[in-house]
Amino acid sequence: MAARPDRNGTPWWRSAIIYQVYIRSFADGDGDGIGDIAGLRSRLPYLAELGIDALWINPWYPSPMKDAGYDVSDFRAIEPLFGTLADAEAMIAEAHDLGLRILLDIVPNHFSDQHAWFREALAADPGSPERARFIFRDGQGPDGAEPPNDWMSNFGGLAWTRVPEADGRPGQWYLHLFTPEQPDVDWTNSDVQEEFTQTMRFWFGLGVDGFRIDVAHGLAKAEGLPDVGSTPWPPVGGEIVDHPHWDRDEVHEIYRSWRSLADTYDDPRVFVAEAWVHHPGRLAHYVRADELHTAFNFDFLLAPWDAERMRESIVASLTAHEAVGAPATWVLSNHDTVREVSRYARPQGARTLRKLDDLAALPADFAVGRRRARAAALLMLALPGGAYVYQGEELGLAEVEDLPEDLLQDPGWEQSGRTERGRDGCRVPIPWSGETPPFGFSPDDAGSPPWLPQPAEWRELTVEAQTGDEDSMLELYRRALHLRRAQPALGDGRLTWLDAPDGALAFGRDPGFVCIVNLSGDPVPVPDGTEILISSGPLTDDGRVPFDTSVWLTS
Ligand code: GLC
Repeated sequence: MAARPDRNGTPWWRSAIIYQVYIRSFADGDGDGIGDIAGLRSRLPYLAELGIDALWINPWYPSPMKDAGYDVSDFRAIEPLFGTLADAEAMIAEAHDLGLRILLDIVPNHFSDQHAWFREALAADPGSPERARFIFRDGQGPDGAEPPNDWMSNFGGLAWTRVPEADGRPGQWYLHLFTPEQPDVDWTNSDVQEEFTQTMRFWFGLGVDGFRIDVAHGLAKAEGLPDVGSTPWPPVGGEIVDHPHWDRDEVHEIYRSWRSLADTYDDPRVFVAEAWVHHPGRLAHYVRADELHTAFNFDFLLAPWDAERMRESIVASLTAHEAVGAPATWVLSNHDTVREVSRYARPQGARTLRKLDDLAALPADFAVGRRRARAAALLMLALPGGAYVYQGEELGLAEVEDLPEDLLQDPGWEQSGRTERGRDGCRVPIPWSGETPPFGFSPDDAGSPPWLPQPAEWRELTVEAQTGDEDSMLELYRRALHLRRAQPALGDGRLTWLDAPDGALAFGRDPGFVCIVNLSGDPVPVPDGTEILISSGPLTDDGRVPFDTSVWLTS
């Protein structure tokens, strides 16, 4: 393949910029209002030109779509809404020809309840090998009518559902940490282990370069499934807690075996963990030399727009990753989190992820949000390691906070008793061109509108409208990504903190690179003898860096 060579003599993934393709909202090739592989293929040149190294594609496998594809009914096929296996193979080959690597999403914590194994488990008896692949237990209390323990679903409500047995009477319960249609599998079961090994081999054999691992911190459950009780999650105050189903030490054995599989390939395959563990040291366990390559840095994503807090987050990540020899990665948003323009538009400290009603109650200034998102992008791309860019982030899209309730599709909406609007607002289809919806997302003669409606104001944010506009977010990302490639100091490596006034951050990278980020302080002078490579916004008349602005300098 014509993928980009390793950089500075280190493997490509240590500095990679990976673009997240949320496939159902990226580009629609067949006009049904849902993004697909044909649409993605047609936009590969855009992605290659943007200056990224790889794509991570959200689940594209057959799925009843109870959780937007994270309920997989067949791990080694393509969901018909998105295309065919032949389309996928063609896309992978075309991406490789353009120098882009491909990461897929693997979902090892749970299956769809429509997966053949779960149907077999329902039809089989308690205690059968078919049930042993999942987590079935008898209930507590008279007639087993109470759930086996106190675990709650991530989307609200109990994490247990009771099934009828063959004689029609209420029977055992099965565990689902997400929706009831996503039964958890039992990772101590050898069928389960083998199924995922075969799945990885299948996709690696088709040329896939790696996997993003869904809920990587959830696979191991404590022996005996004890109650959560008062064990807090996320842990309070950075303490390490012994939680019965999040971030258990037993998960690491699984990843050591996955790593040895990935290393058997001539061009070794790579992994990135989605592990919401809220502790840099615990996160670093996932990226020890014989485990996964990288992990998303959600602490950075959650950090408010505050110099001290950002710096603490960066230092803690770099220190923890360096201790195990892994590169840090940086991320500002994804398909589960409120888009950063909308987070940063709120007063400092606003970090709500899903409670959009709470967010809506805070005063918002979207011009401020956009300025900060621009400055954050330059900060992220200058830090040591790699970074993730979520589709639409490069267009400066904000969360769509006013989607009509009857169109909301995130299971969290119903499961929370309609108290959390959920994640649809960051999943609205991408605007590519034109003056009116579907903004080039679907072909002109499309039969169906986009699966979520796009705001009319997005006419100013289409790829077409921003291309060539030097002040646009898209051109900022393009320039920064290309500069980053050309700067030997950027990517993998270290940084040196430089003196900066209160409210600002400054660091150097060797050779000859400086980044200044002014989050909230007085304008910061640019050091003598430096040359400005790029700035996220205008400097003051006397050439200083105002608040909400970042600059890259060569020294
Ligand atoms: C991950 C995914 C999220 C999904 C959940 C259950 O957190 O990113 O979208 O709902 O796992 O699979």
